[in-house]
Amino acid sequence: MSKVVKIQKVVYGGHGLAKEDKVYFVPYTLPEEEVEIQVIEEKKDYSVAKPVKIVKPSVFRQEAPCKYYTVCGGCDFQHILYEKQIEIKKEILKDQLLRIGKIDTEIKDVYPSNPFNYRNKAQFKFDGKNFGFYKHNSHEIVDVDYCYLLKEDLNQTIQPLKKFLLKYALNVSQIVVFSNYKDEKLIKFEFTDDSQIVNVIPDLNIYKDEIDKKIKGVGFYSKNKRHLLLGEDVVFEVVDRYKYRVSMDSFFQVNIYQVKNLIDIVVSYVEGYKKVVDFYCGVGTLTIPIAFHVKDVLGIEANEEAVKDAKANVKHNNLKNLKFLKGKTDKGLKYAKDFKPDLIVLDPPRSGLNKKIVKEISSIESVKRVVYVSCNPSTLARDLKDFQESGFKVNKISMIDMFPQTHHIESVSVLDKI
Ligand SMILES: C[S@@+](CC[C@H](N)C(=O)[O-])C[C@H]1O[C@@H](n2cnc3c(N)ncnc32)[C@H](O)[C@@H]1O
Repeated sequence: MSKVVKIQKVVYGGHGLAKEDKVYFVPYTLPEEEVEIQVIEEKKDYSVAKPVKIVKPSVFRQEAPCKYYTVCGGCDFQHILYEKQIEIKKEILKDQLLRIGKIDTEIKDVYPSNPFNYRNKAQFKFDGKNFGFYKHNSHEIVDVDYCYLLKEDLNQTIQPLKKFLLKYALNVSQIVVFSNYKDEKLIKFEFTDDSQIVNVIPDLNIYKDEIDKKIKGVGFYSKNKRHLLLGEDVVFEVVDRYKYRVSMDSFFQVNIYQVKNLIDIVVSYVEGYKKVVDFYCGVGTLTIPIAFHVKDVLGIEANEEAVKDAKANVKHNNLKNLKFLKGKTDKGLKYAKDFKPDLIVLDPPRSGLNKKIVKEISSIESVKRVVYVSCNPSTLARDLKDFQESGFKVNKISMIDMFPQTHHIESVSVLDKI
């Protein structure tokens, strides 16, 4: 049975929220819209519904450019004009900070992105027939020939890669492609059956020579270990004056238009400080630029490959004032304490920090400022609340749109010791 509801706002996760006889969460909707819905999941306190018809559309609604939109699980904001996407993300961030963190603040400092073709990394799925991305809430694959989020050169890899996998009937379930500023690529296959690997090497050489000369290296995953099939396992990325070695297994910021903005914001907060610890530092994306502005820096990171890259990046940037340690944050804290930093940078994964980490960082006497880079407003709000309760005050929060056309929200918060 269908009914018509009025959407009040868009909440974290990207669904529109309507309050009628109960709460309804409806994807692909906008505030003020009247929408005919069909309930697909009934819960005690709320229902999840799908939009059947937009009865009264918002002035901010647009035709999604992508033909796979609403089927492919990659995007959930393509029906929204880009300027409005930014407004909605600001509201969601503000709302999460208030509800979870009890922090009442306006998000004034905002960095919009190029809305399309911004991603330097693709994670394609393959099932022996379809090549593309998972459908929403499913492990079924939608077969794609173009993705509006990807850099053009990554889009150009779709057809040849698919043809190659089909021609040799490869048992591959995932293909990760990273492309740098020169469109040089690293490819990583996840084989479901390792026995094919030996046979595939000559074919890969053909692929590289005849189809894409910009492939620098090909690797594969087997039993949780990555092996190199061809070429090298690193490429170099350049952002502004900084040069980064990035290996197949290391994280690198995905939005080519926003890395410089992120660096500039973080660097602006370290001016005047002397000793910085950068937790969750990856290949040193932030650590390297910070080192040009302070006396000493220590980067701490759990991923072994990323730490190797970070150490190489010290030399590639002719720096002498920074060190990197491999380790998880909870273990690295005691080294951080001995380092006596006056500023700490944190850029954790979506799960954020935890009470113990916040408590230990707050108890380091020398620390006067914390800069927190977050890709999840809920865990950010939780952690900022803990910092506020441990003697810090949130001074400013900036939003950088790293993930246009999706509900994901990236931000940088600066906290000062009271
Ligand atoms: C969001 S990325 C940020 C990387 C880097 N700051 C950058 O801008 O490229 C998070 C990083 O945290 C690392 N990581 C994940 N869990 C960790 C942990 N418990 N301790 C230390 N590092 C961790 C990941 O390997 C990844 O490199």
